[in-house]
Amino acid sequence: SAAPVVVAPAMDGEMYAHPATQANVDRLRSFGYALVEPEVGPLASGATGQGRLAETARILDAVVEAVAGRAIRAADEAQRPPVDETLREPDLEGRHLIVTAGGTAEPIDPVRFIGNRSTGRMGVALAEAALRRGARVTLICGATSVPLPAEAEIRPAPTAAAMRDAVLSVLPQADALIMAAAVADFRPTRVSERKVARSEGLILELEPTDDILAEATRRITRGELAAGRPNGAGRDRRPVVVGFAAETGSLDRAPDKAERKGVDLLVANDITDEASGFGSETNRVTLIVPGSDPEPWPVLPKIEVAHRLLDRVSALLVLRDALNAAGASSVA
Ligand code: CTP
Repeated sequence: SAAPVVVAPAMDGEMYAHPATQANVDRLRSFGYALVEPEVGPLASGATGQGRLAETARILDAVVEAVAGRAIRAADEAQRPPVDETLREPDLEGRHLIVTAGGTAEPIDPVRFIGNRSTGRMGVALAEAALRRGARVTLICGATSVPLPAEAEIRPAPTAAAMRDAVLSVLPQADALIMAAAVADFRPTRVSERKVARSEGLILELEPTDDILAEATRRITRGELAAGRPNGAGRDRRPVVVGFAAETGSLDRAPDKAERKGVDLLVANDITDEASGFGSETNRVTLIVPGSDPEPWPVLPKIEVAHRLLDRVSALLVLRDALNAAGASSVA
């Protein structure tokens, strides 16, 4: 809840004085929570000390003070107290994830390129969240302007073509592919080997780049990955595929895009929304699961979007493994 929080603890006196309790009390205060200290007096154990629940009037005063002057508003998810990252379950241990991040740069000549405004923040948040949950992460990066996690295996991929090669070479070993990168849709048909002089003028002819996501899902559905798997024989280790769709204005096209690209999950957002723009700390996304109603998520810090998305990826992997196990035992 984004509502103000008032805590009125009560316990036996020695417990309240214990450094562990006091550390927790300080922690609650650090979230901005109001604390109504317990009162001194006889306690349930028969001892006397600080531990009695504060009088109702004092608790009410604290509540009134906490809400006074606050406009009534919808919950602002971005204002939630910080998530304790160390408490995540290592549910992705033994899984290998490919995450792409940043924007590709398609060269015009040795100096110039066609690029985009992606900073890589969402992809990097996904890589960090996956690492915390015990995954091995290959982070395939275009141009980024945020620090990259040192524990990830970083593969630079400056152009759409380089990113395609990197993704397809790692895909046979991966349990999931998350395409958070902003891949150029068009590149110059010809790249000049020398700098084009201003006096020459410049009209660019563009050609579409290969659609990496579509190609990855095509290879997966055709069963072309098994050959590249270390222990792949007979075992369906089909990777879970997640796409992103940066739209402007309406997300109406997103469900079609999810079907067309053959992804398991599509994360759509409206980049004209100030909570979701490039480089923003937060994101407001709608999750598309083909065949189900779109799920609009609230505005969340990007790391929280990453964890919620990984919850879904993790669940799909558990389901995949359970189906494989059921298939294997029915064959046996
Ligand atoms: N993508 C990709 N290869 C490309 C272009 C995009 O793999 N050459 C991936 C992006 O990383 C993203 C998803 O496809 O995960 C959707 O990208 P988007 O540009 O929104 O989709 P398009 O295929 O370009 O569709 P449209 O032009 O209709 O918006």
